Amino acid sequence: MRAVGVVEFGGPEALRIVDVPERHAGPGEVRIRSAAATVSPTDTFTRNGDRAKWLSKWAPPYVPGMDVAGVLDEIGEGVSTDLAIGDHVMAIVIPAASNGGYAEQVVVPAESVARVPAGFDDVAASTLPMNGLTARLALDLLGLTAGQTLAVTGAAGCFGGYTVQLAKADGLRVVADASEADEELVRTLGADLVVRRGDDVARRIRAAVPAGVDGLADGSIQNDALLGAIRDGGGFAAVRPFQGETERGITIHNVWVRSYAREQAKLDRLRQLVEEGAVTLRVAKAIPVEQAAEAHRVLEKGGTRGRLVLTW
Ligand SMILES: NC(=O)c1ccc[n+]([C@@H]2O[C@H](COP(=O)([O-])OP(=O)(O)OC[C@H]3O[C@@H](n4cnc5c(N)ncnc54)[C@H](OP(=O)(O)O)[C@@H]3O)[C@@H](O)[C@H]2O)c1
Repeated sequence: MRAVGVVEFGGPEALRIVDVPERHAGPGEVRIRSAAATVSPTDTFTRNGDRAKWLSKWAPPYVPGMDVAGVLDEIGEGVSTDLAIGDHVMAIVIPAASNGGYAEQVVVPAESVARVPAGFDDVAASTLPMNGLTARLALDLLGLTAGQTLAVTGAAGCFGGYTVQLAKADGLRVVADASEADEELVRTLGADLVVRRGDDVARRIRAAVPAGVDGLADGSIQNDALLGAIRDGGGFAAVRPFQGETERGITIHNVWVRSYAREQAKLDRLRQLVEEGAVTLRVAKAIPVEQAAEAHRVLEKGGTRGRLVLTW
């Protein structure tokens, strides 16, 4: 079966269509005939060799990709599910060797899968699992309660956008960053206050919320430059390993979505929120898998809003 992967690490051009053995759902697993796979920042690390040491326990090709949507086409032994063969489903994928999201067939634990939101196609649905679950995990780790204030940076991005919307659904007050061009988008996602993004964003958040925010989700990866926005004893959710030293009793929460990869009830709750209109699926562009290299080029340039999605 076909996949898109790398045999030798490198730039976007290292991505090739590769032939990998057909896969079957083992005990506790399901197989998806994929129609759509997102292109996320993390995929570039599988491609460019940043993860070479970890990947070296397997032979290439290495297939990136952390979200898929498509048709459920095999259910493994011992799986108890209300899903049936032929249902359209979406899944979070934890890539290992050649079993990543950029493949025609993807095998995942049954708990990594939920139904595609009613009224949405596979391309739109594929944008939800990984970043939706990451946003959920970041908020769960911060543990804020209704009425408390959360700051979100990189709010126009996929993680940031879902975090803004889930925080609003949780009853939080949200202050979010945006460029001038993204301000309307970020307001539409539900931010109560919008401040200009940039190096000085912590000061601007503090000016908008003088007591300091209770928690901050760092989608822009600005690390300790953001701490000044947070009140003494508040929380910071880091989606990449935190760089710097904390201060004033601020707790740094490291967010690793793989710890939510089998949280099916949470994924299904995200589906419901999409159906209710509380969470917005944003597709930047659907791109045929043969053009995966071009998709990586576009992603790495920055400025993409919504997710690029590879289609089979
Ligand atoms: N740890 C985990 O489990 C996990 C899971 C999911 C995501 N992540 C990480 O979360 C981060 C966000 O992912 P994503 O998918 O949301 O990416 P994305 O869609 O590209 O969003 C990132 C946003 O941050 C903005 N940004 C970048 N640098 C900035 C800066 N210095 N100041 C202000 N804004 C800035 C980007 O704007 P431009 O496009 O204009 O640069 C973009 O709007 C990535 O680093 C990703 O690897 C981690």
